[in-house]
Amino acid sequence: MRNVTLADVFTHPVAQKYLHRSGVSHAIIVAEHALELALQNGVDPDLATKAGLLHDIGHYEWYKNGKWDYEQYRESDIHAIKGAERAHKLLIRLGEDRQPAKEIALAILLHTDSYLPEGTLHQNPLQKVVRMADEMDEEPGGRHHYREMNREVALQHIQKLDQKIDDYLIQVRRTV
Ligand SMILES: [Fe+2]
Repeated sequence: MRNVTLADVFTHPVAQKYLHRSGVSHAIIVAEHALELALQNGVDPDLATKAGLLHDIGHYEWYKNGKWDYEQYRESDIHAIKGAERAHKLLIRLGEDRQPAKEIALAILLHTDSYLPEGTLHQNPLQKVVRMADEMDEEPGGRHHYREMNREVALQHIQKLDQKIDDYLIQVRRTV
């Protein structure tokens, strides 16, 4: 039904490599919030969950003595730019169409304004959903990046999300 599922994305070695840097648990919970918010706001849940899952894959490892170095992070961070590009490349490689791949990449690019010069960011509904989903899972001191979730449990969450998206798409097709 979809060219690319969340399970396809999640199990790809590139996603595995980068998701672990900023926390698998955070990525999955943001994807789950993004699904709920997408359904409430008339946004495509397939795009929202993929962007939610991949929103932080642009992070470098800002570790100093085993801890995230926020000073260095704040000064040099471009994770949204890097993540948008990585996500786009990965999605195209998996067979995603160019249009949705661009939508997802843009939602990742604009999920935060922490790296931008001051100003107002005008976000479309998909971009707003991803940003809100991310903020819902944020913990003080960046603790959301350290929570653990084992691969088995993570995959179960991903499969449940895929199922919900497919159910939604079937329902939409019936009513059109
Ligand atoms: Fe995040």
